[in-house]
Amino acid sequence: MAQILDGNRVRDEIKSELKPRVEALAAAGRPPGLAVVLVGNNPASEIYVRNKIKACHDLGIYSENIAPADAVSTEEMLEVVRGLNERADIDGILVQLPLPKQVDTKRILLAVEPAKDVDGFHPCNVGRLVAGLPGPRACTPAGILELLKRYGIEIAGKRAVVVGRSDIVGKPVAFLLLHEHATVTICHSKTRDLAAVCREGDILVVAMGRAALITGEYIKPGATVIDVGTNRIENRDEAARIFRHSADRMGVFDKRGSVLVGDVHPLDVAEIAGAYTPVPGGVGPLTIAMLMANTVAAAERRPGIC
Ligand code: GUN
Repeated sequence: MAQILDGNRVRDEIKSELKPRVEALAAAGRPPGLAVVLVGNNPASEIYVRNKIKACHDLGIYSENIAPADAVSTEEMLEVVRGLNERADIDGILVQLPLPKQVDTKRILLAVEPAKDVDGFHPCNVGRLVAGLPGPRACTPAGILELLKRYGIEIAGKRAVVVGRSDIVGKPVAFLLLHEHATVTICHSKTRDLAAVCREGDILVVAMGRAALITGEYIKPGATVIDVGTNRIENRDEAARIFRHSADRMGVFDKRGSVLVGDVHPLDVAEIAGAYTPVPGGVGPLTIAMLMANTVAAAERRPGIC
């Protein structure tokens, strides 16, 4: 059986390392401050934001939740961001995505002061990532690298295959792996014979948002598999198909009425991989830990870096 890469354990380690840094900043004047802007009431975003605010609270980071109405315009959002850029008590600004379709997301992300961009989404910080310069890195990709390093998984010289080319995960994780000297391939919806390409990966990172699509034939035996997907399955037949009618797994479904499944097949990966991140409890907890790390680093770096 493959080794489980425990994101909750690594998250706790990261948080306990951050705690004295937060205390030192508080003792020196004020704790780090994070503003989270959540538009409307997307249930998944609400859960993410609640968890982000809770993590701040646990660590003693000041946090503020700004909640513009669903009908907010781009101009109004720009005003919110500009106001936060100017606040001396706010070190980090996070605009939860996705934004409603009437809002120009690119303009909003561009308006965030790069030194306060704890998501690492500003083009200035994306440029710093590509150039290998220090700066805030996107949280999920940074969490994946942290997990690989803390579990001692060798990256240099390995074949890394990334499935998904999003700005939030696929592209930044590919650059982080490249900077660690992996040979990196990025796959996407037009990739031919995806299974054959994935099977070349000593490290396989999957972020495509399709439940359990990556089955055994996509996984090189002994590979390290990082599953970024979190897909909620509410249909019992679909859950039964994915879990091949396993009584244990279906017991969880029957108790809760739904189950979370990654993009990687949960039974196949446990059998074929050398190590893998479970869903839940793998990559998810690390995203928030790295947001906290980026917020603390931004507070330590005052004033700006760009
Ligand atoms: N939506 C999904 N993931 C993220 C993230 O890492 N940051 C932000 N701001 N929004 C998201």
